Amino acid sequence: MTNIDSPAISETQAYVPSAIADAGFLRNLWYFALPGRELAKGQFKPLWLLGEPLLFGRTNEGEVFAIHDICPHRGIPLSYGSFDGREVECCYHGWRFGPDGRCTAIPSLVDGQSQLAREKIRVRSYICREVQGIVWVYMSEKPRAALDEASLPPPPALPEVTADQLQIVDTLDFPCYMDHAVIGLIDPAHGPYVHKSWWWRPGSSSYEKTKRFGPNDLGFTMLRHKPSKNSRAYKLLGGAPETEIAFRLPGMRIDHTKAGKHTLVNFTAVTPVSENMTRVSNLIYWTTPWLTALKPILRHFAHAFLQQDREIVMIQREGLKLRPSLMLIDDADRQAKWFYRLKKEWQASQAEGRPFANPITERTLRWKS
Ligand code: FES
Ligand SMILES: [Fe+2]
Repeated sequence: MTNIDSPAISETQAYVPSAIADAGFLRNLWYFALPGRELAKGQFKPLWLLGEPLLFGRTNEGEVFAIHDICPHRGIPLSYGSFDGREVECCYHGWRFGPDGRCTAIPSLVDGQSQLAREKIRVRSYICREVQGIVWVYMSEKPRAALDEASLPPPPALPEVTADQLQIVDTLDFPCYMDHAVIGLIDPAHGPYVHKSWWWRPGSSSYEKTKRFGPNDLGFTMLRHKPSKNSRAYKLLGGAPETEIAFRLPGMRIDHTKAGKHTLVNFTAVTPVSENMTRVSNLIYWTTPWLTALKPILRHFAHAFLQQDREIVMIQREGLKLRPSLMLIDDADRQAKWFYRLKKEWQASQAEGRPFANPITERTLRWKS
């Protein structure tokens, strides 16, 4: 595993890490791949994840699978070939592969030539699960054959929602290393500057916030609270909305708002494409029927919001080229510090073959935004 040089973490002081290394990804975790509805039966779609080319497909039976997008014969990406809902065919010499990666046909072989050799040929396959309208892929260190699939933890679950309540899907590629996109997700202090919009925050209002946080299985949760008075968008929900925001490794935020009997889940997943490209996906689920009438407007606002986060990353890229030292200051940056601690502990637990011990303890954070 590539070592990630996480900055030393001080809980009490501001500090200046020498650099945040832009290298390496956490393994043995579920990563968000794509919304299930982007893959119809008999279709396939190439997607790079963690610097590897994957080919996702959906069989005629509706099962989702993922295999390495490289033909083992001469290295042609299989995504240039075809898929009939049963087998993927390479465009160069027509070798065929099943959804489990096994080679099923080599057309150039004549009768009597070894089918035995063919049976040993396989493309790497990846463990996929489709839950709540999301295709998850387990990015392990070891090949699939070396894993005990039955003992894997399930992919992350979103609270209360089902696939048919998925209303808005948006994806943007951020030209940065994954960590910068993750920190943007859990950085409460950029709101009044980056997300300056009449519909989100009137004028330049900024308030002191006091929030209680606690650990969850793979991260931390901002415990249930009433949304801040200055976020108008939430008022549309009606009732007395209460929100809980969970952050989990490898990089996802689950924002769960309940208002009366209704639920809104705003899920953001950060998936590394490569070391300098990161895909940020935003999926919004709700159960409130009248919100559906507002879907085009909400989609527009959600996209504008994500676009603002992307723009700041584009600007940041100019500075990061010079590899400056970066700072994480006090409670406003506490969640970013926690992210680095979580990553470090995940790597240590994997390297030592022991269970993950969440280093976060319950505490209150205070900041102005
Ligand atoms: S390169 Fe794929 S079949 Fe030859
Ligand atoms: Fe943001």
